[in-house]
Amino acid sequence: MENFAATLTSHDAYLNGVPHEIFKELRAHQPVAWTEEPDGRGFWSITKYDDVLYASRHAEIFSSRQGIRMEDMSEEETEARRTLMEMDSPEHTRLRRLVARPFTPRAVADYEDAIRELSREVLANLGGAEEFDFVKLVARELPMKMLGRLLGLPDEDLDWLVSRGDALIGNTDPEFTDYVVDQTDTSAYRLLPFRSPVALELFEYAQAALDARRLNPTHDVITALLQPNNEGDSLDDTALKNFFTLMVAAGNDTTRYTMVAGAQVFIERPELFASIPSLDVAQMKSLVDEILRWSTTTMHFRRTVTEDTELRGQQLKKGDKVVLWYASANYDEEHFENPYEFVPDRTPNDHTAFGLHSAHLCLGAHLARLELRVMFEEMARAWSSIELAGPTERLRSNFISGTKRLPILVTWR
Ligand code: HEM
Repeated sequence: MENFAATLTSHDAYLNGVPHEIFKELRAHQPVAWTEEPDGRGFWSITKYDDVLYASRHAEIFSSRQGIRMEDMSEEETEARRTLMEMDSPEHTRLRRLVARPFTPRAVADYEDAIRELSREVLANLGGAEEFDFVKLVARELPMKMLGRLLGLPDEDLDWLVSRGDALIGNTDPEFTDYVVDQTDTSAYRLLPFRSPVALELFEYAQAALDARRLNPTHDVITALLQPNNEGDSLDDTALKNFFTLMVAAGNDTTRYTMVAGAQVFIERPELFASIPSLDVAQMKSLVDEILRWSTTTMHFRRTVTEDTELRGQQLKKGDKVVLWYASANYDEEHFENPYEFVPDRTPNDHTAFGLHSAHLCLGAHLARLELRVMFEEMARAWSSIELAGPTERLRSNFISGTKRLPILVTWR
């Protein structure tokens, strides 16, 4: 137990998987645990489901305004880098209303045909290959193509765009960025999202896209975001560019790595993969939700305490950082029966993979769920089996849990 802090903050510690044993110990013995940070002022780790729920529902005490990643940021940095995620109501409510329309369940349901067409295209592009990297050729492709379709961006820009998103979200993995935050001096970029100059490239790209849509409005999400809402309220260009960057960063690799986790489950359970064509939509939705719980791709988000408060006997002081470990809450044995068992039809399954029922619940949840379901359906239609074909490799990150290389062998139908 002595060493748990080092484990939770170290990016390297997640290279072999999520440290579930540590979370289990914490839930049992120190559910609200002070966690030392090598380069920071430390934080409270919250690991029980009910406590994560409590903090999520009390944003007046557990605020997002001072940052949602572990790292400390000065007020100047937070101000400059603020997106929807780093806001509390009423500022958050206003912005969320302005951007939410294209992401409602109703709006997203209309994308099903497009997602199916794109999924088939991704699989057809494999050209019948039997052995390949699932991450690179399947899981990375669909979210990228779908984002391009939503935002009305040309296909030839997408690879570049997603590599920029990877550099931001993967800012702790040297494979994705030259600006690894805990290994290089990134202080010159501290006012940019993810402390990375890559954000400037995305801002520039977004500005060009905004200018183009103003001249030639189309039917995409960018054009929709340029319109004022019913109350005549609209976004300025800074807010639009920040939101664009947030979509590229938040919507791609999260969906990608959850899709990879799904493929890993199917490799472990061939009978489950083989059964997919016989499952109805409701059963597929349950399966996708269990994959979301099982993998919990975004392992945590952070809040900051706005007033002295007590939680499970611990005194939390105003200004203390609190990390909500979604990856632990999803395995809380007091909330989920047999949490370490993968139960395809788990009911209920009120997991925390998209955050908990609060203002910040993932905006892209319906879209991500649909992409995952349709791609899994199409994979099972195309392949009769899927096996591991070589060593896998994990992302270096204490934030995103992901396998970045998954060589597989498939049998085409
Ligand atoms: C499996 C895929 C995904 C996972 C696991 C995921 C996870 C999350 C989580 C846990 C949050 C809550 C943040 C918090 O507690 O502060 C969140 C928020 C958000 N997500 Fe996702 N996400 C996924 C896909 C997407 C997609 C596809 C998009 C957009 C295209 C998206 C856009 C957003 C946005 C904009 C927010 C901020 C919402 C707010 O603060 O009001 N996400 N996501």
